[in-house]
Amino acid sequence: SLQDEIPDGQAPNGSAQQLPQTIIIGVRKGGTRALLEMLSLHPDVAAAENEVHFFDWEEHYSQGLGWYLSQMPFSAPHQLTVEKTPAYFTSPKVPERVHGMNPAIRLLLILRDPSERVLSDYTQVFYNHVQKRKPYPSIEEFLVRDGRLNVDYKALNRSLYHLHMQNWLRFFPLRRIHIVDGDRLIRDPFPEIQKVERFLRLSPQINASNFYFNKTKGFYCLRDGGRDRCLHESKGRAHPQVDPRLLNKLHEYFHEPNKKFFELVGRTFDWH
Ligand code: A3P
Repeated sequence: SLQDEIPDGQAPNGSAQQLPQTIIIGVRKGGTRALLEMLSLHPDVAAAENEVHFFDWEEHYSQGLGWYLSQMPFSAPHQLTVEKTPAYFTSPKVPERVHGMNPAIRLLLILRDPSERVLSDYTQVFYNHVQKRKPYPSIEEFLVRDGRLNVDYKALNRSLYHLHMQNWLRFFPLRRIHIVDGDRLIRDPFPEIQKVERFLRLSPQINASNFYFNKTKGFYCLRDGGRDRCLHESKGRAHPQVDPRLLNKLHEYFHEPNKKFFELVGRTFDWH
């Protein structure tokens, strides 16, 4: 049985590893790290530091829930364990697998303007290449083919939120999936985090004073027990300048999919 697979995760100090009671499932470049770090301000939250990739990578999933548990942080019994793997949202096999582990799990999904997400996605891969001193084509080379928008560019597909959301709604009711507005989380994180506290039924312990705007970074940073910290420099990077006409094509491309998504979740977002 599954129970037999799970080793006893007892630590000497009485804390233990727990399977996550909530998962940040995505979206890639939506602000998943910011959300995890902000939620970790809560004393009743224990977060896995790294992206676990349990449900989407066969070499991990095949090792069973015992392996998954072994990746979790040690926590007290009253704490909620959370992990974030942004690739889950867009991986077709993942919803059923998560449901198989715990059909009552609460899911967190952070989304931002789909066009902006494409630029952020490109920027991430661009810098991965720069780090390895490898050349990387300009964003136009991905976005345009034969003078038209290249709909085969993978980053575009990841922003078709309604397609991916449909997969999740086959296994989870909407009330189990809380959508964080990633654009708002950038502009004013505290109200968005309060909503997450309520969704997870956490006591309201995160305060406005836990956030301060850092002018140099151009983003909110965290203040935790007098300790100030911003996210890594890879979070909040400048995006490439794109020809306004091309940007417009991108906005048009997402117009219908966005409408479908709004219908699906019974809520609208302030996207282009
Ligand atoms: P950009 O670097 O493209 O601006 P993820 O963690 O899912 O990869 O998302 C990264 C994005 O988180 C960043 O994308 C940034 O816009 C967003 N973000 C939200 N709040 C942030 C914060 N307080 N500091 C830095 N980045 C933040």
